[in-house]
Amino acid sequence: MTLFRGSRYRGIPLVGQLRVPGDKSLSHRAVLFAACAEGTSRLTGLLDGLDVRSTIAVVQALGARIELDEGGEGLASGTASGTASGTVSGTVSGWGAQGPRQPVEALDCGNSGTTARLLLGLLAGYPVTVTLTGDSSLVRRPMRRVIEPLELMGARFEPQGGATLPLTVHGSDRLRAIDYCSPVASAQVKSAVLLAGMRASGATSVTEPSLSRNHTELMLPAFGVPVAVEGLTSRVTGGALPHACDCVVPGDPSSAAFLLVAAALVPHSRVTVPGVSLNPTRTGFLDVMRRMGVQLAIETSKSVALSGMGATEGNALVSELFGSVTVSAPLELMPTVVEPHEVPALIDEVPLLALLATAASGETRFKGVGELRVKESDRLSVIIHGLTALGARAWAEGDDLVVAGLRPCRGSVSLLTQGDHRLAMTWVVAARAFGLDLIIERLSSMDVSYPGFLADLECLSG
Ligand code: S3P
Repeated sequence: MTLFRGSRYRGIPLVGQLRVPGDKSLSHRAVLFAACAEGTSRLTGLLDGLDVRSTIAVVQALGARIELDEGGEGLASGTASGTASGTVSGTVSGWGAQGPRQPVEALDCGNSGTTARLLLGLLAGYPVTVTLTGDSSLVRRPMRRVIEPLELMGARFEPQGGATLPLTVHGSDRLRAIDYCSPVASAQVKSAVLLAGMRASGATSVTEPSLSRNHTELMLPAFGVPVAVEGLTSRVTGGALPHACDCVVPGDPSSAAFLLVAAALVPHSRVTVPGVSLNPTRTGFLDVMRRMGVQLAIETSKSVALSGMGATEGNALVSELFGSVTVSAPLELMPTVVEPHEVPALIDEVPLLALLATAASGETRFKGVGELRVKESDRLSVIIHGLTALGARAWAEGDDLVVAGLRPCRGSVSLLTQGDHRLAMTWVVAARAFGLDLIIERLSSMDVSYPGFLADLECLSG
């Protein structure tokens, strides 16, 4: 339990310009794809957080060679001038045609669902037997959603019928291609199937109910593996060997969101985050903030953030967008309704948007957010518990989350996080924005995705 003294910031706006660490989803993918590629890739601006460290450690155990720069500096790290903070660069020499080394021990994916699920897909296509495990949060998260399609392709898992880590995958270099309709809009499921499909015989497709983040489709072609995208279906043809590629990772919009929402909640604030990913499958929270009355200025950079990246959609080349976002605090916040089809593009920002909604004049409804129950924590119940402790009204109606106005709490309030990094940072934003002294459980879980968060917030407080 840590006391965060928000009262010392009462009346102080957040002002300035600040870069945030590299995007977590892109960093995982860059390391994983470089690890299985032939040759040496240079990766710049990777997130230096615990989750990406887990990915780095597991691919090293599988035979990839990784050399990280001392005090590396990326496109999207640290302060306005680009000083590194929570960002690292380096090279990855992949196992290439040789395939991964058979590890002796179980691989620990830490807190990272992306590491575990993408790795299960990647390993399914090699003749290795690997056990994956994780921390107390990860071993509770559902893995059936990736096991099911991978079994259809010919991989085997132990224990049979297992649904959670630890799990042993028996991969095969004779995977069958499948056309898979995923019941959930999950980028991790989609990516696992595409990575296995890369090594199957024939073309493998994944169709999802609504579009989840499309980083795998955009990044694999940069590593020489074409991905065809048609509406909600992505297709990869087996037999492609990824080759090394140089990647520059832009800033993480999910980390930027903490600074931007804090700025939206404190009168007279104005914060700019440059060099951040503006991939539309990630920026749904900006659309919702705008609908609620937050003043936003977005400048998209013309150049491509990730060198050589692009997937074919029809005949057009699609690349990762990045640019700068400026938020100015509004005079008034309006409630809104977030529709189910919007959820995948803002799933990680629901805790923050729910906090923002407590300052709106009326009820905000987040429809179809049941997936929050199986994130790093049961986010639905932790959000409801925390907002209620803060004096707001928040409740679930089936898979909907409803939030209404805040009567700021008095006295000391303890907020639970279940060790979830995004909840820990959401409660810091609450303390900072409403000038409250809050006792926050397991605050250090922030290191999973944004190690320099408290320093960055301080930096914007003059
Ligand atoms: C991620 C996908 C999302 C997201 C997670 C990162 C990814 O999860 O919530 O933080 O990098 O692919 P799902 O695929 O389970 O929706």
